[in-house]
Amino acid sequence: MAQIFDRSSNALARMSLILTGLIVIALGLTADELQRSPWVTRQGQRADQPVPFSHKHHVEGLGLQCQYCHTSVEKSSYAGIPPTKTCMNCHAQIWTDAQLLEPVRHSWATGESIAWTRVHDLPDYVFFNHEIHVNKGIGCSSCHGRVDEMPIMYMQNTLQMEWCLNCHRNPGKNLRPTSEIYNMAWTGASELKPVWCAAEDVAAGSPTAGGVTCTETAPGGEVQMAAVSAPVTGVHAQLAGTGIGSEDTGVMHLPAGLHYTKFTSQAALGLFLVQHYDIRNPRELTSCEVCHR
Ligand code: HEC
Ligand code: HEC
Ligand code: HEC
Ligand code: HEC
Ligand code: HEC
Repeated sequence: MAQIFDRSSNALARMSLILTGLIVIALGLTADELQRSPWVTRQGQRADQPVPFSHKHHVEGLGLQCQYCHTSVEKSSYAGIPPTKTCMNCHAQIWTDAQLLEPVRHSWATGESIAWTRVHDLPDYVFFNHEIHVNKGIGCSSCHGRVDEMPIMYMQNTLQMEWCLNCHRNPGKNLRPTSEIYNMAWTGASELKPVWCAAEDVAAGSPTAGGVTCTETAPGGEVQMAAVSAPVTGVHAQLAGTGIGSEDTGVMHLPAGLHYTKFTSQAALGLFLVQHYDIRNPRELTSCEVCHR
C-alpha cells in the first residue's frame, strides 16, 4: 500500500475517518432530538376526530364532570372512552339535526362505535394504571393539562419515560388531596391559598388516602397559623366531644377529634400527603419493574 499511497493520503484517510465519526455523532444527536421532538411524540397535536368533540364546551360550558364520561378512571387502569349512549342522553334532544353530529347518530342507529383516534397511547411494554394515580392524589390536570379549556383534545405532556420518572423521583410536589382530583384549576398549597388537612389516627392500620380530610376553608374558622398540629376549634371540636359525628353513628362523615394542620406551601403539603397516602420512596418508584413488568 505504501507504494501507492504516500504520507499525505494517509493523513487524508485519517481525516475522513474523523469526519465520518463526527457525522455519525451528529446524526445520533439529531435522531435523539427527533425522538423527543413534538413531531414524533405528537405532543400538542390535534388529532383528526370523526366528531369535533369539545371538552371546553361540555366541561367548562355545561359543567359536566370527567367521571360522567370517563366512568372507570377511579377503579381501573383505564379511564375509558364513553359509549355513544352517553352522548345520546343529551343529543337525542339537543342539536338533533346538526351535521357535525351525524357520525354520532349513525353510530347510535347501527350500533357501531364511533372510531375515535387515540390521543394518548403508551407502547404495550409500559404498564400504566389510572386507579393508583387518582387514588393517591395525582389530579387529571397534572398529566393531561387544562382539559376543561381544550376545544379539541391534545396531549399536554410527552408521556416519555423521563416525564414519568421526573414525577416518580419527587411525587410530593404534584400531590393534592384526593378531593381535588378533578379540580382543573388546582395550583397547589401556597400562602395565598392555604390548605388544611387532618389525618385519622392510623395506629389501627397502615395509612390510606381515605383517612385524610382536607379543606380549602379554615376548619372551625380559627385555626392557628402553621402550628404542627393545631387542635380544631368550633363545631368539629364540639361534635368530637359529644360523640356526634364519630364513625359509629354513621350520621355525619366528619371523623371525630381531627387535628387540622394548615399548609401554606406545596412542599409542606406534599410531605404530609406522601406520609399519609403511604407513597413509596423514590428508589422504589423508579425501579424498572414498576413500569416494565
Ligand atoms: C361529555 C363526555 C365527556 C366529558 C364530560 C369528559 N370527556 Fe374526556 N373525552 C370524551 C370523548 C368522547 C373523548 C374522545 C374524543 C377526544 O379525544 O376528544 C375524550 C377524550 C379524553 C382524553 C384523551 C383520550 C385519548 O384518546 O388519549 C382525555 C385525557 C380526557 N378525555 C380527559 C377528560 C377530563 C380530564 C375530563 C374532565 C375535566 C373529561 N375528559 C371530561 C368525552 C368526555
Ligand atoms: C349533558 C348533555 C350533553 C352530553 C352528555 C353531550 N353533549 Fe354534546 N352538546 C351538548 C350541548 C348543550 C351542546 C351545545 C353547546 C353549545 O353550543 O354551547 C353540545 C354540543 C355538541 C357538539 C357541537 C360542537 C360544540 O361542541 O359545540 C358536538 C360535536 C357534541 N356536542 C358532541 C358530543 C358527543 C360526541 C358527546 C358524547 C361523548 C356529547 N356531545 C355529549 C350537550 C351534551
Ligand atoms: C399520572 C398521569 C395521569 C393521570 C393523573 C391521569 N391520566 Fe389519563 N392517561 C395517562 C396516560 C399515560 C394515558 C395513556 C394510557 C395508555 O396508553 O395506556 C392516559 C389515558 C387517558 C384516557 C384515554 C383512555 C384510556 O383509559 O387510556 C383518558 C380518557 C384519560 N386518560 C382520562 C383521565 C382522567 C379523567 C383523569 C383524572 C381523573 C386522568 N386521566 C388522570 C396519564 C394520566
Ligand atoms: C405527576 C406525578 C406522576 C406522573 C407524571 C406519573 N406517575 Fe406513576 N405514580 C405516581 C404516584 C404518586 C404513584 C403512587 C406511588 C405509591 O403508591 O407508592 C405512582 C405509581 C405508579 C405505578 C405503580 C402502580 C402499582 O400498582 O404498583 C406505576 C406502574 C406508574 N406509576 C406508572 C407511571 C407511568 C408509566 C407514567 C408515565 C407515563 C407515570 N406513572 C407518571 C405519580 C406519577
Ligand atoms: C415510571 C415508569 C417507568 C420506569 C420506572 C421505567 N420506565 Fe422505561 N419506559 C417508560 C415509558 C413510559 C417508556 C416509553 C417511552 C416512549 O414511548 O417514548 C419507557 C421506555 C423504555 C425503553 C425503550 C427505549 C426508550 O428509551 O424509549 C427502555 C429500554 C426502558 N424504558 C428501560 C427502562 C429501564 C432499564 C428502567 C429502570 C432503570 C426503566 N425503563 C424504568 C416508563 C418507565
